[in-house]
Amino acid sequence: MEPLNAFDFEALAQERLDDMAWEYFRGGAGDESTLRDNRAALERWKLQPRVLVDVTDVDTSTTVLGTPVTAPVLVAPVALQKLAHPEGEAATARAAAAAGTIMVLSTSATMRPQPVAAAAPDAPRWFQVYVFRDRGVTQALIDEACASGYSALVLTVDVPTVGRREGALRTGFHVPDELEVAGDIFESIDPGVSWRDVDWIAGHGLPVVIKGILTPEDAVVAAEHGAAGIVVSNHGGRQLDGVPASIDALPRVAEALDGRCEVLLDSGVRRGVDVLRALALGARAVLVGRAVVYALAAAGEEGVLTMLQLLREEVELGLRLLGCTSVEQVTREHVRWSA
Ligand SMILES: Cc1cc2nc3c(=O)[nH]c(=O)nc-3n(C[C@H](O)[C@H](O)[C@H](O)COP(=O)(O)O)c2cc1C
Repeated sequence: MEPLNAFDFEALAQERLDDMAWEYFRGGAGDESTLRDNRAALERWKLQPRVLVDVTDVDTSTTVLGTPVTAPVLVAPVALQKLAHPEGEAATARAAAAAGTIMVLSTSATMRPQPVAAAAPDAPRWFQVYVFRDRGVTQALIDEACASGYSALVLTVDVPTVGRREGALRTGFHVPDELEVAGDIFESIDPGVSWRDVDWIAGHGLPVVIKGILTPEDAVVAAEHGAAGIVVSNHGGRQLDGVPASIDALPRVAEALDGRCEVLLDSGVRRGVDVLRALALGARAVLVGRAVVYALAAAGEEGVLTMLQLLREEVELGLRLLGCTSVEQVTREHVRWSA
């Protein structure tokens, strides 16, 4: 059966992956209450369609930090992609390029920034930064990303230490010997990372996006530190269990920022209607993590491209049925919270 949506790719990924890899990609922290709530909360936000709007021509494209994308759906940084597929991050980069969107490459990728750039030379790409105790490791990765045409640095701030994922513990998670990790978070992430480091990251001359913000207070501090964007994210439920679903944190964050920087969202996005919910609550675009890596595990580059195309088509259909002809037309009036 041809996969028709992101959930179909998830089922295929589970079939293809061994227990350790599946659990690594799927799992969340603690009791996984935040992991579950990411999906449940999205479904609680009910769409409010307007009717008898001429939706003959609908445009899903937008820009993110000035870069045109075919849909408000970016590829989230996900570590260890060669654990999903032998072509790893290169396959994802080519698929994101073909889909016309931005890939964010993880610091903990199984390929370095330069070869991933070479896999899709003309595509827009951002580099995600983890700060290690040895700043030299981080610096070398940033330098390589800057020299390889990455156009933004995404500083992930919700990992002062790696969350406790019990599924990974139960399945004996380890990085297989044959895989090389560009910057290994399991070894030397710095719990002392602070707002001072934001100024250092910003000193490289690329726009900085701060990923992993859940409160209006932190969002405002990020803007004050010159962030070009923030990602409202709970890391797909993998860090502090018990925090709110990202979609529930979004409205207050977007209100507090009031357009001072661009707001992105991730965690739990699987459907075009999830993208519309995020847009309605103030996001400019979303990032998708597991949906991408499941498609990669299921069918490599082609799988990721198909999944991204399906999501874009779902956004287009959703816009039409919502009574909007462009992503800019989706407003707060298009969603309502319902228990
Ligand atoms: C297996 C896995 C690995 C991840 N690795 C990283 C990473 O290296 N850097 C990072 O900033 N976020 C990482 N994330 C978080 C994603 O960027 C994103 O926030 C999350 O996947 C969004 O939730 P979703 O998977 O439901 O789309 C990872 C997520 C998963 C599932």
